[in-house]
Amino acid sequence: MGAHVLIVEDEANIRKILSTMLQAEGYETSESENLSGAKEQLRARSPDVILSDLRLGREDGIFLLKWLRDEGIATPFIILTAHGTVDSAVDAMKQGAFDYLSKPFDRTELVRVLKKAVLTGQYQNHSAVKTWSTNASQFPMVGTNEKMQKIGVLIDKVAPTDSTVLITGESGTGKELIAQALHERSLRVKAPFIKINCAAIPGPLMESELFGYERGAFTGAVSSKPGRFELADGGTFFLDEVAEMSVEMQVKLLRVLQDKSFERVGGIRTLTVDVRLITATNKDLDAEVKAGRFRSDLFYRLNVVPISLPPLRERAGDIPLLVAYFVNKFSEKLKKPAPTVSPETLELLLQFPWPGNIRQLENVIERLIVMNETKAISPDQLPDEILEFEEERFYATQGGTLKEQVREATRRIEKRAIEEALLETGSNVTQAARKLNISRKGLQLKMKELGFR
Ligand SMILES: Nc1ncnc2c1ncn2[C@@H]1O[C@H](COP(=O)(O)OP(=O)(O)OP(=O)(O)O)[C@@H](O)[C@H]1O
Ligand SMILES: [Mg+2]
Repeated sequence: MGAHVLIVEDEANIRKILSTMLQAEGYETSESENLSGAKEQLRARSPDVILSDLRLGREDGIFLLKWLRDEGIATPFIILTAHGTVDSAVDAMKQGAFDYLSKPFDRTELVRVLKKAVLTGQYQNHSAVKTWSTNASQFPMVGTNEKMQKIGVLIDKVAPTDSTVLITGESGTGKELIAQALHERSLRVKAPFIKINCAAIPGPLMESELFGYERGAFTGAVSSKPGRFELADGGTFFLDEVAEMSVEMQVKLLRVLQDKSFERVGGIRTLTVDVRLITATNKDLDAEVKAGRFRSDLFYRLNVVPISLPPLRERAGDIPLLVAYFVNKFSEKLKKPAPTVSPETLELLLQFPWPGNIRQLENVIERLIVMNETKAISPDQLPDEILEFEEERFYATQGGTLKEQVREATRRIEKRAIEEALLETGSNVTQAARKLNISRKGLQLKMKELGFR
């Protein structure tokens, strides 16, 4: 993941342990032993999460939290509390801390909370929706993924040229969006953007769709009609699902590419057009050529500038941004207040493999917003396919028997409940026990068993 965590802790030992632990988990860390050091680091570079001790010598971690919020910095802030400082942890939560961890913290708990904090931070960061191309656009392409950034640079470079572009990528990865962006950023922007989907048009109709026809060319051709190539004159022609084109049509298309001219069906006049051609396919066109289904000479003509879009699961880091973007988009469209998305929900969205890519994510969010009446989207609002996937993944990755897993889950819930009861009662075991509806002795035993000190 590579998120950056700033550790603020006065005890050098704990600082080192935390830092080593987090680096082993793939985090980048920086350290500070006091408030002034932390502020200095924060001014230089903002981390994704801050992990701060509550007691820093004679200083107080909450001051750092207050300072941050006064400066308008919303970085998720996690408090580390030692026994006896739980009251202050409550205070910290009121001041807007993301969560607290009591010492001695266990590694899985620490990593779990951190992961959630990083996600939340990324999600909050969407206010400036990060698009991956430098030009402002009517079709914003959201994401900060490195591959997509490179594609963004490529688009800005290729758009103003007349080069033919072949866009490949799984269904729903944004191929059409790229084609539109190329047109929008080209010198042809004022001329039409015409598209045709080869898979949607029956073979026999394809020729007249593309090239038009003259009156009387076939039964029913009562008047002449221009084809889409003519309509696109001066502009951009987007040929979607090009792998579905018949070999016969491939030959005709090749000719248009070679001499920019063609005849309408039933026509004798040769027409000349000036179009920029962009094609797209979710098939491996190279393999289609090898299998003899696609002409290699046409392939080379189309594949002048190839753009290959990675599936969403290979750029899962963009999911929080995309979610934020779609939540806002559909809330605006439906004139509803935009809900937040809980970190647990984001985590599930992040783990889902998205076979239908961005289109599927977009549809899921649209449905959520349509149905939603709450302030925060929780996991139970997600569609079954995502919840079921998560369940299967859980059993597949957790290992251990079902019984062990249930025991572990119970242990975590108990631990959390006890922590909360202690927090609320200022660590008064008697009162906490009453809150939890167990005996004082029972609570003490439980606390020992769960490793409380
Ligand atoms: N990076 C992105 N940021 C925002 N929206 C995106 C992004 N990529 C795709 N979308 C949106 O996702 C949806 C699917 O994109 P698009 O239609 O371009 O995909 P496609 O690859 O052409 O899919 P198909 O193969 O099914 O035709 C569209 O509504 C598009 O606006
Ligand atoms: Mg498409």
